[in-house]
Amino acid sequence: MIKLLILGPTGAMGKIISELALNDDDIEVVAACDINNIGEELGAYVAIKDPNKVKISDVNNLQNIIEKTNPDVTVDFTVAKATEKNCETCVKNGIRCIIGTTAMSQDFLDKFEKLVKEHNAPAVISPNMATGVNIFFKMASILTKYLSEWDIEVIEAHHHRKIDAPSGTALKIGHIISDTLGSDFSEIAKYGRNKGPSKRLVGAKNEIGIHSIRAGDIVGDHIVLFGGSGERIELKHQAHSRLCFVTGAIKAIKFIAKAKESKIYSTAEVLGL
Ligand SMILES: NC(=O)c1ccc[n+]([C@@H]2O[C@H](COP(=O)([O-])OP(=O)(O)OC[C@H]3O[C@@H](n4cnc5c(N)ncnc54)[C@H](O)[C@@H]3O)[C@@H](O)[C@H]2O)c1
Repeated sequence: MIKLLILGPTGAMGKIISELALNDDDIEVVAACDINNIGEELGAYVAIKDPNKVKISDVNNLQNIIEKTNPDVTVDFTVAKATEKNCETCVKNGIRCIIGTTAMSQDFLDKFEKLVKEHNAPAVISPNMATGVNIFFKMASILTKYLSEWDIEVIEAHHHRKIDAPSGTALKIGHIISDTLGSDFSEIAKYGRNKGPSKRLVGAKNEIGIHSIRAGDIVGDHIVLFGGSGERIELKHQAHSRLCFVTGAIKAIKFIAKAKESKIYSTAEVLGL
């Protein structure tokens, strides 16, 4: 049995992760920490087969909770600042982290990579754990190889509650395309083509326009548009529900529990792509 700590169990992602984890025969949820709904039963939020007596604990007591419950793995879909603090505590205790939260700082990612090695605690960090999206990443790279002379624009749409823009997935797509082009993403990314800091209104070769839409309850859409003369190709992924990310997170929990190498794995590695 994998002893699991859930960070952010009352969030949109956290609720579905809690439901799947509580119903999984290979996982024992030993603790759940949040800043909200402290003291409430975790099972109260989700449909579960067996009653689970885990109560939501105050994340400010994380170190004590880890010492009492001794988790093997933690899963974190919260907000960047919280993840940076809480997953540092987890990795320092040798807990293997699955991080789905987006928009963490590069400083944290560099520090975290060192901690993973130092504490022999492999981790998965992925801005998008859906199987389809990880195949989409590969297809974006293949199309870029063939269409490097065309204009390339990335368009993403998400629900209006999302607090980071562009999405972590759009940034990852941008990095994949720029690596394929042999360019530095920070030099060729043009955000929004507005009159702001990007200062690039017209399109040009060897740059990637990135555009964000925030509307209603859109779960997550990504398009890579390759525009040529008199024709275009659009590569598109649409998430219909958060289940696609959560099933990926559950696979990642089971994968990391057995992982041998002290490094940060990608979802492509978890899925064997
Ligand atoms: N990797 C993926 O596949 C994937 C998919 C969807 C969303 N995401 C990312 O997951 C994150 C969460 O998304 P969401 O839609 O569930 O957000 P949400 O706002 O619905 O939930 C966030 C949760 O974090 C909790 N929280 C806030 N501060 C905390 C702290 N200090 N400690 C513990 N918990 C804390 C909140 O109470 C809430 O329960 C975002 O960064 C989003 O971009 C990733």
